[in-house]
Amino acid sequence: MANLIDGKRIAAEINAETAGAVAELGCRHGVQPGLAVVLVGQNPASQVYVNMKAKRTLELGMYSEKHELPADTGQTELLALIDKLNCDPKIHGILVQSPPPPQIDERQVVLAIDPGKDVDCFHPFNVGKMLIGDQDGFFPCTPYGVMVLMQRCGIDPSGRHAVIAGRSNIVGKPMMALLMQKAAGANATVTVCHSRTPDIREHCLRADILVAAIGKPEFIGGDMVKPGAVVIDVGINRIEDAAAKRGYRLVGDVAFEQVEKKASWITPVPGGVGPMTIAMLLQNTLKACRASCSPD
Ligand code: GUN
Repeated sequence: MANLIDGKRIAAEINAETAGAVAELGCRHGVQPGLAVVLVGQNPASQVYVNMKAKRTLELGMYSEKHELPADTGQTELLALIDKLNCDPKIHGILVQSPPPPQIDERQVVLAIDPGKDVDCFHPFNVGKMLIGDQDGFFPCTPYGVMVLMQRCGIDPSGRHAVIAGRSNIVGKPMMALLMQKAAGANATVTVCHSRTPDIREHCLRADILVAAIGKPEFIGGDMVKPGAVVIDVGINRIEDAAAKRGYRLVGDVAFEQVEKKASWITPVPGGVGPMTIAMLLQNTLKACRASCSPD
């Protein structure tokens, strides 16, 4: 039976470290890290995420702003808000929740965010820095959270074969870049599979570390996992469940009950990768604030 990677506990540990650093920054430099979260429209899942981000920001002693804009907000209006936040010295991190409604051109929005405040690491400048292994920018929160989970569980990817199922800009692609870096805690050999990959199962079976990020409920079955593999489930899918209070329950991209019998380590859903995303977002906000205090 696999060891459980307890993301909730590890995220709480990181949040406590962040809160300590925030307090120290206040005492020593009289500055408070600030994060602005922006949501356009009323996507229910996005509302939950944005509320959680704002709540956690306050809990760690940071300054929080939440901007909830109507679903019919225009591009110009959104860009004007970003401009304002770029210039606001109270704000060190800006996050526009994805996906926005269809009238918004997300690429232009991402380009408008000051790269020094791009705590999501969506701006091409920061994506490029991450790819070349520059430590000065930001790492995208979810893949960064996966790296830290492994590190804190004593799992070293070095020399191991990591297989990523999924090639999204938010998870799959940056996960590839972080795992393959020539750096402590990385140095993996990486395969990326996606919807056009024939025989995904064959690739997954060769993984020492398997990262599931395809957005398909319980896609990775026990027959796709090598005995002893580390399995990281990035999926969060709502599936109907009449017995559940809300009428749905959350499952990952991994069929947990089958896979935990084969894996050496596994993340649960919820309580695995999920809590790490916000923990790393707030670490990035702290980093942005520190960089703004001492530009060198
Ligand atoms: N939507 C899903 N995940 C994320 C994330 O990490 N950041 C933003 N901005 N939107 C998301």
